[in-house]
Amino acid sequence: MDAPPDSDPLRARLDALERQAELGGGAERIAKQHEAGKLTARERLDLLLDPGTFVELDKFVTHRSAEFGMGDKRIPGDGVVTGYGRIDGRQVFVFAQDFTVFGGSLSGAYAQKICKVMDMATRVGAPIIGLNDSGGARIQEGVESLAGYAEIFLRNTLASGVVPQISVILGPCAGGAVYSPAITDFIVMTKDTSYMFITGPEVIKTVTHEEVTKEDLGGALAHNQKSGVAHFAAENEQASILTVRELLSYLPSNNAEDPPVVPCEDEPFRVSEELRTLVPPNPNKPYDIKEVVRAVVDQRHFFEVQEHFARNIVVGFARVNGRAVGIVANQPAVLAGVLDISASVKAARFVRFCDCFNIPLVTFVDVPGFLPGTAQEWGGIITHGAKLLYAFAEATVPKVTVITRKAYGGAYDVMASKHIRADVNYAWPTAEIAVMGPEGAVNIIFRNELAKAADTATERARLVADYREKFANPFKAAELGYIDEVIRPEQTREKLVRALEMLKDKRQENPARKHGNIPL
Ligand code: HXC
Repeated sequence: MDAPPDSDPLRARLDALERQAELGGGAERIAKQHEAGKLTARERLDLLLDPGTFVELDKFVTHRSAEFGMGDKRIPGDGVVTGYGRIDGRQVFVFAQDFTVFGGSLSGAYAQKICKVMDMATRVGAPIIGLNDSGGARIQEGVESLAGYAEIFLRNTLASGVVPQISVILGPCAGGAVYSPAITDFIVMTKDTSYMFITGPEVIKTVTHEEVTKEDLGGALAHNQKSGVAHFAAENEQASILTVRELLSYLPSNNAEDPPVVPCEDEPFRVSEELRTLVPPNPNKPYDIKEVVRAVVDQRHFFEVQEHFARNIVVGFARVNGRAVGIVANQPAVLAGVLDISASVKAARFVRFCDCFNIPLVTFVDVPGFLPGTAQEWGGIITHGAKLLYAFAEATVPKVTVITRKAYGGAYDVMASKHIRADVNYAWPTAEIAVMGPEGAVNIIFRNELAKAADTATERARLVADYREKFANPFKAAELGYIDEVIRPEQTREKLVRALEMLKDKRQENPARKHGNIPL
């Protein structure tokens, strides 16, 4: 039974204010939000946090604006619900923008509420999760709102690499407001109801005469497939929020902690018979690297990140014997697993994230090299490819590499080779470690012999076979100690378990400096 209304006027005022804050923009606007297929800020927090753990802050904060009739429009909370709670028992800080209050638009006071939780999160070392659903800067406030955004951007930057930051987009996110999510570590978008752009379709039409819908311009698929801005595309709000809960399960709360270890319900030394024959005898035939990943990780469960973008490289989280790892893997099933601009940038950011948060890296290599051509060169593959090289080279977390097939040229060096401080480097017997593929190599180094040969095709085949025998295998690299062990594919899980166990207390420091200058 509800407690009887309080007769004390101050307590009655408290009750009334709380009720008003909880109702946000009112029943009508809540109904409109539901009709649009969206939940309210509070309903979203209920889904995100462990039941009964949410502690709200600044529930009675209102804006300070008097212009444009705003003086008599004040709603306690001012359009954003902030506070802290728990996910799987671990503390997190949250803000949830409330579209029912002034379209979730950001005022100076609203920004201060967000900054307060961001400051606390950074101080105590807990993740920050932002649920975004907002019309952007509160137009009536002008520069005060812009200042508020900048204060948030600053905190996003200072918290980067200190605590994980996750943005969920559950409605509009436009104008400069997109830059807060962009600085955070992961962006989850919701299909059909969320969009992000710096300028909407109307302005685009005026400036460039281009016609585009907001969904095509900045919907979940646009940013998951085309731009790579977002990391996850969820079917609905519930799925978006569950994605955050799973993502956090792989991450430590801050950069001074290790990721949580969970009991392993899989056999640590499970033999993966299916890997014996996975790599086709013909080196030009594709196979799915995700089959290798799933075969070797706990319960075959791989939590992929940026699944739809630059599919020629695969990144994501998994566990090996209960410990979280970041997986980076060339994907021979897409563009032969070549490294291009998008793949390099995607993997580089992921590697740097793992390194920030003490998550060991497991790298699977089957890469024919960098993608040639004018589009790539003029697009800056040199700079972008160097990002991946830089990211792997500077990473001090445990790094274990498995070469399954091709490791050609510069891409061999880049993909967590021994020379850039990988700790344990394995190769399957099918590995081909060379400056380039046998056909290309023979055409260059035996050009004169081939020109003079009576039967060019037979001579080329002989030279290719000879080259393959000499160089397109892992044994030369193993002789030099660049490969620590040539392993049987079916034993890969056991080898990873042992290597990661051996490396679990690894400590390595880079030279002291303000910060490096990654080729951005
Ligand atoms: C004040 C706003 C608002 C805003 C929406 N509202 N956006 N109030 N400032 N930015 C109010 C509306 O007036 C309306 O109030 C209520 O929120 C719901 O909005 P609707 O338009 O009815 O909703 P909908 O049709 O769903 O359209 C949502 C929308 C649209 C697409 C977001 O509201 C819109 O285009 N808003 C303006 C977006 C914008 O240009 N923002 C500034 C971007 S620049 P009532 O009382 O009528 O219900 C920016 C700079 C950031 O953000 C810079 C950072 C560096």
